[in-house]
Amino acid sequence: RKKVTVPLLRAMHKRGDPITMITAHDFPSAHVADAAGMEVVLVGDSLAMVALGMEDTSEVLLEEMLLHCRSVARATKAAFTVGDLPMGSYEIAPTQALETAIRFVKEGRMQGVKLEGGKEMVPTIQKITAAGIPVLGHVGLTPQRQNALGGFRVQGKTSPGAMKILEDALAVQEAGCFAVVLEAVPAEVAAIITQKLSIPTIGIGAGNGCSGQVLVQVDMTGNFPPGRALARFVKQYGDVWAESFRAIETYRDEVKSRQYPAPEHTYPIKKEELDGFVE
Ligand code: KIV
Ligand code: NA
Repeated sequence: RKKVTVPLLRAMHKRGDPITMITAHDFPSAHVADAAGMEVVLVGDSLAMVALGMEDTSEVLLEEMLLHCRSVARATKAAFTVGDLPMGSYEIAPTQALETAIRFVKEGRMQGVKLEGGKEMVPTIQKITAAGIPVLGHVGLTPQRQNALGGFRVQGKTSPGAMKILEDALAVQEAGCFAVVLEAVPAEVAAIITQKLSIPTIGIGAGNGCSGQVLVQVDMTGNFPPGRALARFVKQYGDVWAESFRAIETYRDEVKSRQYPAPEHTYPIKKEELDGFVE
């Protein structure tokens, strides 16, 4: 498979080919995403919850993100890799953001970075892109600001709200983002924003009118304990938790009943080789 680059993503967008993106948080989750043909693999800060068991994304450390990025990078051969700048690692000043973005490239081995925010992030996006690091924008619902937004809720449900998201998306485009994530935005609003932009929009909970889609891998594969409430926009394509549970439970039962290991899982030795080993 051909290596995915920013120019390739641009060409896909130009010909109307939907861009597929998924999160990964370690070597195996990145390996399967790459093998299944994802064009972009995102090390989202959602790994705070899905891989580290934290309550929200505000807890994850830069060093933790970098560790996971490195493992994802080792498994990602064709997909374009993007790392999420965690809260606290980029908001203080454009120079802070650039330092962090450079660490994502040098230590995390990512090809691009993602950061949340609109107009107010313009100088930061300019600073990072001027250094040659591709930036993916993220507007609409921005989970790092959940305390200010009043939780995880759909954004742009009124004309002024929709206008703010459009202005933010245009601003990050002008600042140099190669694409922008639209999260939790009504489909009609996201479709109009997509038409008004010249860069691709990557939707999550933003309907079918975006230039591409992204989902959190553990959500869409069902790799989480039963009973977890999923956001409206998640389609669960698999039941990985149930399959892992079945496998581990069967292993437990077979150890308890001494069915496992069977002779075929055992290294043979010739009887005469045991001479003198025991009296
Ligand atoms: O952290 C994440 O996984 C994300 C995607 C859902 C866009 O930001
Ligand atoms: Na994120």
